[in-house]
Order: sequence, then C-alpha cells, then structure tokens
Amino acid sequence: MKNGLEDVVAAETQLSHVDGEAGQLIIRGISLDHLAGQASYEDVVALLFEGLLGPMPDRTELARRLGEKRADVFAHVGAIDDALLELPPVDIMRALIARLPDGDDLETALRLLAAPAVFLPAALRLKRGESPLAPTPALSHAADILAMLGAKLPSRQDVAALDAYLVTISDHGLNASTFASRVVASTKAGLTSSVLAAIGALKGPLHGGAPGPVLDMLDAIGTPENAETWLSDALDHGERLMGFGHRVYRVRDPRADALKGALKRLIVAHPANRDRIQLAEAVERSALAILKARKPERPLDVNVEFYTALLLDALNFPREAFTGVFAIGRTVGWIAHAREQALEGRLIRPRSLYVGPLPQQAA
Ligand code: ACO
Repeated sequence: MKNGLEDVVAAETQLSHVDGEAGQLIIRGISLDHLAGQASYEDVVALLFEGLLGPMPDRTELARRLGEKRADVFAHVGAIDDALLELPPVDIMRALIARLPDGDDLETALRLLAAPAVFLPAALRLKRGESPLAPTPALSHAADILAMLGAKLPSRQDVAALDAYLVTISDHGLNASTFASRVVASTKAGLTSSVLAAIGALKGPLHGGAPGPVLDMLDAIGTPENAETWLSDALDHGERLMGFGHRVYRVRDPRADALKGALKRLIVAHPANRDRIQLAEAVERSALAILKARKPERPLDVNVEFYTALLLDALNFPREAFTGVFAIGRTVGWIAHAREQALEGRLIRPRSLYVGPLPQQAA
C-alpha cells in the first residue's frame, strides 16, 4: 500500500507528461515552453481533444462553437440566488455546472468549457452587486472572460497573459483532480459528472486552492526585508509555505517560469504591480534558502501557484476567484482525460487494506 499513491502509475495517457526530475511538462508531444505565450487557449483545446471527441472542426469553427456555447450557458446565470451568492465563487460555479446535462460528445465538452468561463465572472459581478455581463461569442475565450468581468475592451496584453495562463495550466498528468475525473469517467457516468468531481478535488489548498493564500502571505510579509523572519516563523509554527513544494517535481515547476514570463510581459502594461513582483522575487529567494536548510532531504521548489497568484492579481481577479480561474483552464484537461479513460480504460476500482477489528470468533 502506498499512502497517497505516490509514484503509483494508474493510467496510460497520450495527453501530458510531467517529468519531475528534469522539470519539464510535455503536452501532446510539445514542451510547455513552446506552448505558453505562443498558442491560444483554443489551440490547446484542439490539441487536447484531437481523436477523443469525433472529428474536430477547424480552429475558426471550434472558436465559433465555443463562443456560441458561452452565449447558451449564460441562461443559467439566472439561477444564482441569495443562498448561492453566500458561497465562494468556485462553489457557485460548481453548483451551476451541476445543472448541465451529462453526455460524452463534443457538444457536451464545449458546453463544459464554456460554463466555468461564463459562471465565474457572473458570480464575481453579482457578489459586487453588479449585473452579470452577457458573453460576446465573437471574442476569443480569454478576451471574453475579461470582457464579462467588466473590461469594455480588454487590452491585447491582458488577453495574451490570460491566454498564457489558461494554456499553462491546461493539463498536468495524473494530478488529484484529473484522477478524480478519470475515476468518474471509468464508470461511464459522463463528462459533466467527471468535471464536477474534478472541481471538488481541485479546490483544496493542497491542490488548486493555494494561490489566494500565496497573496495573503505576500501581504503579510509586506516588504522584502521581512521575508526571512516571517517565513522562518511560519515554519516554526508548523505551517507550509504556499506556492512551494510538489508531489512530482523535485526541481522548479516549469509552469512557474512560464507564468513568470507572462507576468513580466504583462507588467509593462501594469507598472503598478512592479513592487509586488520585486517582493515576490525576494520571498521566493528567501523561502528557497530556508526550505533547503530545513529540509535538505526533500527538494522543495516554487510551484505553479506562486506566480499564478501574481498574474491573476495583475489581471484584476480577486483572490477568492483564483481557484475558479484555475478550473476554467483545467477543464479541457479533465475532459480529455475523462474521454481517454472512457474510451480505453477499465473501471477504476482499487482495493483497500483493512486494518480494523475482526468479528469475535464464536467460542
Ligand atoms: N512548506 C513547508 N514544508 C513543506 C512544503 C511547503 N510548501 N511542502 C512540503 N513540505 C514538507 C512537508 O512538511 C514534509 O516534511 P516532513 O517530512 O518533515 O513532514 C515534506 O516536505 C514532504 O511533504 P509531503 O506532504 O510528503 O509532500 P506532498 O508531495 O504530499 O505534498 C504539496 C505536495 C501538497 C504540494 C506540498 O508541497 C504543499 O502542501 N505545498 C503547499 C501548498 C501548495 O503550494 N499547493 C499547490 C500545489 S501545486 C498544484 O496542485 C496545482
């Protein structure tokens, strides 16, 4: 029995490979450094869906149908009532996705890609007391998300940064949420059920729930000079440093660099965020030195969530929305894995080791 299934291989996949020793992420044969900042979100949807959902329309038609689906799912925004509005944005998103029909075809898949992209901005606006903004199907997915948040004409730099983020986090081997998606798909339940299970797994702070706390940590540290004392104190109190460590990577998470690159390009358009980046770099340096000194046997480096926090903050997403934005980007990976599992895999049904009491033997 391997606690946490560490190093257990539980699926064969053609979708992505995480090389934890080399610090490389390969998506369908392409290294992340050749995708992030170069491919659009729609390109990556076509790449990941290829061969799994019937004939794939060309790139323009795919973008058109995705835009159409954003317009369709907007009707569900009306179901956000006062009780739902009390919940965190990712839970509102999950509740609305639960209203969508299950299925295994491209229509269902596109609807599931559209849904979080529409529901999250709507939930955020309603929470601020503003009316939701309807999607503009002709825009790209990334541009429309920013427009639905309230950017009348999203800037080219902002769209490029959000595209780079969505591409960077589109798929990542058999992480906890993707595994959850594949478990559900292995029962042939349908894509909506798979995505719902995946969202549940994603929102925990050990997975996709970390970037909000990363920003809280940076705020609490305040200035580069405070970093060392603050971080040491947190570790003395048994806390984990958010945005550091990974189950698979023993070196730097390549997605951190992809996002740092996107952030540096974005900052030209948002110079106000420069101080925070300098603070983040100082915190990163300090944290790496302290972690190395305290845990020499366990290489702990920066993970994707650290620069996610800074990038999404620079794009004006409130921190309580970060996990939801992660879900927007990762849904394509969840769907592709669910289809791969349903097409080629068997029912996932491991066994447990019973360590409880045995029935009393009859005298
Ligand atoms: N800060 C301090 N210590 C850490 C950290 C950290 N961020 N991460 C791991 N460690 C320590 C653990 O305390 C443990 O030490 P111990 O053996 O003395 O108890 C040792 O390193 C090994 O930790 P594990 O829990 O075995 O590592 P695991 O592979 O299970 O966890 C995880 C990986 C959950 C990402 C962990 O590193 C962590 O909690 N990081 C902080 C939260 C975070 O950034 N989450 C986002 C992950 S990225 C993603 O999912 C998209």
